[in-house]
Amino acid sequence: MSDMSLNPTMQLMRRHSSVRQFRDEAIADDLLQDIIRCGQAVSSSSFIQACSVIRVTDPEKRKLLARAAGNQAYVVQAAEFLVLCADMARIEYCCEKNDLGTLEGYTEHFLQATVDTALVAQNMLLAAESAGLGGVFIGGIRNEIQTVSDCLALPESVYPAFGLCLGWPEQKQPVKPRLPVSVVMHENGYDSSSLQQQVDEYDAQMADYYATRQSNARVSNWSQQSANAVQGKRREHMLAFLQQQGFLKH
Ligand SMILES: Cc1cc2nc3c(=O)[nH]c(=O)nc-3n(C[C@H](O)[C@H](O)[C@H](O)COP(=O)(O)O)c2cc1C
Repeated sequence: MSDMSLNPTMQLMRRHSSVRQFRDEAIADDLLQDIIRCGQAVSSSSFIQACSVIRVTDPEKRKLLARAAGNQAYVVQAAEFLVLCADMARIEYCCEKNDLGTLEGYTEHFLQATVDTALVAQNMLLAAESAGLGGVFIGGIRNEIQTVSDCLALPESVYPAFGLCLGWPEQKQPVKPRLPVSVVMHENGYDSSSLQQQVDEYDAQMADYYATRQSNARVSNWSQQSANAVQGKRREHMLAFLQQQGFLKH
């Protein structure tokens, strides 16, 4: 990657790749706390800070969560497994404390909490990567979200958005080429006039990446992978679960 013109922070961002194999080595408590503080340093919609992080240290809970996430072994193997929760329970309390009634499950509040949580998570991963750690997000926990929620004793107004494995990398995959900027950046309005050509070109680039990468080489391309991914991950239980937790009622 020719990123010599980028500053060190940008270089770090451009070097990201998910890590799924970890050395058997702990993360110092101070470093973990710093990573969480960096996560908290993100912007927060209306400053509601609607995110909680659950550190899972109990080996039995780790095993249960790994299984619930579709048998993802690194949930057990990683030095740390953190569950990023969108959390409106604290704000619910703030409403109560200020005699302003209760939250009523507005979609807007769900979005605020979810976006806050995603931003915290990305800052945490970036901070971890800057310290030489690696990690991978685990959306697989939503396969069995009720099991995960019960395991972590989540109250109403909180939902587990995804997990984060963190540890010292044993192996790193090469960086996956992203869509060109010209494809994701539109000027003054959405423009899909070149969609077919853009996807064809990126498919060719990703087919080459998949065929030549050192581990897990395969014959595939981006559109095929992405189309298959949305078939397999419908998680039809999500709406009922979120409504039961007090979200998405209006
Ligand atoms: C919210 C979210 C959930 C994810 N869930 C999983 C997961 O359950 N298991 C996994 O192996 N990777 C998971 N990933 C990692 C993606 O597969 C990965 O980011 C993507 O393939 C791009 O690869 P890279 O991160 O190495 O650049 C998740 C990523 C995100 C952002």
